[in-house]
Amino acid sequence: MKQHPTITHFASYEEMSKAAAKLVTHYVFKTNANLALPTGGTPIGMYKELVEKNLDWANVRTFNLDEYYPINIDSQQSYYYYMYENLFSTLKNHQSPQISFPHAYYDNHISSAGGLDLAVIGVGNNGHIAFNEPGSEPNSETRIVKLDKQTIEDNARFFDSIEDVPTHSITMGISTIFKAREILILAQGKSKLEILKKGLWNKETKDIPVSWLRKHRNLKVFYCD
Ligand code: PGA
Repeated sequence: MKQHPTITHFASYEEMSKAAAKLVTHYVFKTNANLALPTGGTPIGMYKELVEKNLDWANVRTFNLDEYYPINIDSQQSYYYYMYENLFSTLKNHQSPQISFPHAYYDNHISSAGGLDLAVIGVGNNGHIAFNEPGSEPNSETRIVKLDKQTIEDNARFFDSIEDVPTHSITMGISTIFKAREILILAQGKSKLEILKKGLWNKETKDIPVSWLRKHRNLKVFYCD
């Protein structure tokens, strides 16, 4: 077994986004693929590439990783809005996937659909994955969590002011993500590289939630400066 996961460095954001879109496309072509999808700044390029490919998503089920709680889904800051803006609204009706966002029975929903084939995720500056903040346990499932101070500060850029950032979210758990048959982490910027190395190249710790993924059998980590 490898000592620690490899972090693949891409020369540019565009190249990383293209490689991520290529992997997702592979699953979109597979019938009945179940994909966990991220939001945030990092995957925007991947969604752009996917939109250009004009794929038929009709046989795919998508499960978003997380959503603010509570949030008006029509507001521009909701992850629901983000997904429609960046992907779903660009697809023709008959090419749309079955779309899901976290809810109280999400884990049952995902497992009865056959489990996740691929989870594409980002990482926070504090090492969070989805909204599993520091302190998250490896056996955690979908639940409502309080957002970390660092996350609220990082996400304030998407709101008029930091006071407008919701204090809570509903997120897939670490175990929900870990059960995915393949995981792709996307990260951009030096501080993300630092937290990835700390998390993935050392012992697992709940202080750095991404570290729980270090022993996943099929983990890819894509990074660019
Ligand atoms: P970002 O968010 O892509 O906006 O940096 C990543 C995350 O917090 O998971």
